[in-house]
Amino acid sequence: MLSKTIQDALNKQVKMEAESSQAYLAMASWAEIQPGLDGVTNFFYQQSDEERMHMLKLIRYINERGGFAEVPALEQPMITFVSLQRVFEEFLKHEMAVSESINELVGLALHERDFATHNFLQWYVSEQIEEESLARTLNDKLELVGDDKGGIYLFDRDIMLFRGAASPSQSVGK
Ligand code: FEO
Repeated sequence: MLSKTIQDALNKQVKMEAESSQAYLAMASWAEIQPGLDGVTNFFYQQSDEERMHMLKLIRYINERGGFAEVPALEQPMITFVSLQRVFEEFLKHEMAVSESINELVGLALHERDFATHNFLQWYVSEQIEEESLARTLNDKLELVGDDKGGIYLFDRDIMLFRGAASPSQSVGK
């Protein structure tokens, strides 16, 4: 059985994953109406699906442990961006915030001596290492490219390959 403290903290994380999914959906939608960003569009649609999966995994865990996963109301994410660079800066910023939140959760689970939750959260710890690394790689690439249209064309063409290189084991849990 989950303690109230852990249940509340996990529910907060449910909201954060749901908001991540919305944020990346907004990035996908923005990219889709820009000329020539098919790769970036697909990348963020897929990223949004993954965040929904992260949210579902938490919901199932909370309920399985005798708690109640509350489906939260969500804030509207940023929906327009001044540049592609700005999109990916936001992506990295977002992932860093998620990592911090997961780390706090892990600390709380230990403090509360909830070893099952601590164990469950290890999947998220690994996932965040991959996601942050991916976001940094993509930001580094875009910094190299700058405003060069040819570079952006290649970035868009190869974005799924960067994903494979930076994140070799994007596995779906439960
Ligand atoms: Fe589920 Fe990318 O944080």
